[in-house]
Amino acid sequence: MFKPYGSEVLKPLHVNNQARRKSLLDQSEKIPSIIISSAAAANAVMLGGGYFTPLKGYMDLADVLSVAEKMSLTSGLFWPTPVVNMVPDTSLTEEINSAGKIALRDPNVEDNPVIAIQTVDKIETIIDQQISEVAAQVYGTTDINHPGVAAFSAAGNSLISGDIEVLNYSYFETEFPDTFKTAVEIRNEIEQRNWETVVAFQTRNPMHRAHEELCRMAQKELDADGILVHMLLGKLKQGDIPADIRNASIRKMVELYFPENTVMVTGYGFDMLYAGPREALLHAIFRQNAGCSHLIVGRDHAGVEDYYGAFDSQTIFDSIPEGTLQIEIFRGDHTVWCFKCGKVVMMRDCPHEKEDYLLLSGTRVREILSEGKELPPEFSRPEVAKILSEYYQTL
Ligand code: ADX
Repeated sequence: MFKPYGSEVLKPLHVNNQARRKSLLDQSEKIPSIIISSAAAANAVMLGGGYFTPLKGYMDLADVLSVAEKMSLTSGLFWPTPVVNMVPDTSLTEEINSAGKIALRDPNVEDNPVIAIQTVDKIETIIDQQISEVAAQVYGTTDINHPGVAAFSAAGNSLISGDIEVLNYSYFETEFPDTFKTAVEIRNEIEQRNWETVVAFQTRNPMHRAHEELCRMAQKELDADGILVHMLLGKLKQGDIPADIRNASIRKMVELYFPENTVMVTGYGFDMLYAGPREALLHAIFRQNAGCSHLIVGRDHAGVEDYYGAFDSQTIFDSIPEGTLQIEIFRGDHTVWCFKCGKVVMMRDCPHEKEDYLLLSGTRVREILSEGKELPPEFSRPEVAKILSEYYQTL
């Protein structure tokens, strides 16, 4: 199995030691505390579970600007997206600086329990112009209608950097007890299964037929021992399908249409950035950390609307220094239903013409469902279609 990214071993920041946990919880009552953004809490969950190895906490301004511009920290470590704790200007600056520590409260759980303790390195101001520049570099746009840019721009102008110790995995453990997994758990399970070649599938959708076949084709072409379906469980833009419904659909599809013990259905606690190519790189890093040898990157991976070219998330991998990542990507071409073949195909493998194809996408699936129509079998397995249409009827 590949080593974790940039490290000999995984570095999960979740504190397991009971004495240390108790001491942190005691401390948290005596130091200043703030309610952080959902994105910052999601970063804590990823750092806690080892997915963001070798990072040890939130980046400072110099690192944020460097990551945005050059995709590397000031230390030279390759990293494609900012990992930040940005908050609105705080009146607590003096107290935080004198305590040197801060308790971070979870915005997504009732009563805002402390999710992590941060050792404060610096509190810096990131001015609006810098936020704009970072957005342009990371998201490829400053358009506030882009959901990732909107979240990044709304977080606030105070950047609190420094290492963290993580106390819990927010709502993910309780809401998705069978599906939420840390990188440590996935690595261990892959090892136990004796899988060597493992292809990861990123998704924020219930799996339609193109998703399913992409997994099957990748597994076959790579002669993989197994597939890691790794779904995003965090926040999505409006209109995307909630995680519990996606989870149920995916589990049903895997149970009925894949041989037993060839697929691990799992999820991770992170809010979708919709950063297209940059997010694809981040996806590769944290799947390497989870012990996978390959990541499927298909059409418009991690994209939204028309902000990115269909294959930008693949070509960006050609621009990073060789040897940066050990995980490789499996490049998926447009995957469509071909009426002449009578099955789902990748365009590059099929001799037929555009007019023979039905384009399959999560956006189209959601459109059909919200019009109250039935999902045709070219789009979705009937058992999955049933779960989804039942959900849409409740809206
Ligand atoms: S994503 O935002 O998580 O990338 P989605 O869940 O729709 O969105 O996609 C999961 C993966 O399947 C991505 O790698 C994406 O590029 C790929 N994909 C989805 N639909 C298609 C399609 N019709 N053809 C090729 N690749 C696709």
